[in-house]
Amino acid sequence: MRRNTRLRLVGALAAALVTAGLATGPGAQASPGAQASPRQPTLAELAQRHGRYFGSATDNPELTDTAYTALLGDEFDMITPGNGMKWYATEPQQDVFDWRYGDQIVDLARSNHQRVRAHTLVWHSQLPDWLTGRTWTADELRAVLKKHIQTEVRHYRGKVYSWDVVNEAFNEDGSYRETLWYQTLGPGYIADALRWAHQADPHAKLYLNDYNIEAVGAKSDAYYRLAKDLKARHVPLDGIGLQAHLALQYGYPASLEDNLRRFSRLGLDTALTEVDVRMLLPATEEKLAQQADWYRDLTAACLAVRRCVGITVWDYTDKYSWIPAFFPGEGAALPWDEQLRPKPAYFAIRKALGGR
Ligand code: G3I
Repeated sequence: MRRNTRLRLVGALAAALVTAGLATGPGAQASPGAQASPRQPTLAELAQRHGRYFGSATDNPELTDTAYTALLGDEFDMITPGNGMKWYATEPQQDVFDWRYGDQIVDLARSNHQRVRAHTLVWHSQLPDWLTGRTWTADELRAVLKKHIQTEVRHYRGKVYSWDVVNEAFNEDGSYRETLWYQTLGPGYIADALRWAHQADPHAKLYLNDYNIEAVGAKSDAYYRLAKDLKARHVPLDGIGLQAHLALQYGYPASLEDNLRRFSRLGLDTALTEVDVRMLLPATEEKLAQQADWYRDLTAACLAVRRCVGITVWDYTDKYSWIPAFFPGEGAALPWDEQLRPKPAYFAIRKALGGR
């Protein structure tokens, strides 16, 4: 069958289904008497009406899944590489840089007219062995850190919207996490990292990013104090990323909106950067409904605070979620299921964004 004929037939069938009210899913819309009803706006388009973005993380191995990449390319306007820009991937040997993984995702995002939240420069996890397998003097480690940050940020200069410069720097009680960086360099490594990143790309928005800081509490208070101090010292900090890895069994962070607002008042952007809402399996209708309420509420909280710039889910489908591998017996955390079908959470987000 010739391509045009095939396309006409597919179009006619789709129109018939819509008119009959039989089509379902995000692309379907049945309005009485409509000839060819317009498609539903995407999450990104809905978010843009509020001056926000709606993003997803992704990872290199998944990019061969064409059904997956089609939705990734359509529904979102911000992309975060889940692993490809981390230290172990980008500087596997000292002074040997590998941009293949990060570049693949940046190139894909650009071809889909999406921006990139780059992740992450300074973290205690996923470091290469050459870095963790020996001891360093403070001067040596400072030089290693500066070179890594400046080389990576320069490589992506002009191509990324923001950087998670320092990731997960605090413990739950608000004390500094005893990482290689903190133990060797002291707390000043955070301001240094921000300054070096800013020198390498003055236009990228620079973030500190962590989990369990959605509610007001000891850990988010630590960020509040640090952010205030950094601003007072004119250190180039633009935003705080609240990862928002939530779990139904631990309760919703009810002070999220207040927390976002206090960072805004410091003159900072905020973003929900790695959202998922996991549950004890099996997923039931009740749990999925509660999950949808949480997605609705966190979306509404971001919209309610002017400087909350956007929301990113930590991949969009249960098919590629990190949760089952890290929390055995838990999962179903994302707005699309393992077959890439939208879940109640997806429709709740749409509604919270003002869609239907
Ligand atoms: O690359 C190896 C591969 O060679 C090997 O065959 C495979 C076997 O398990 O493992 C692969 O490495 C995995 C890596 O992801 C890349 O897929 C690691 O085992 C796995 O532990 C690692 O997990 C990542 C995790 O960070 C590490 O802490 C997740 O994909 C990634 O989504 C997750 O992301 C973090 C954010 O960066 C920071 N916030 C928390 C978030 C969730 O943990």
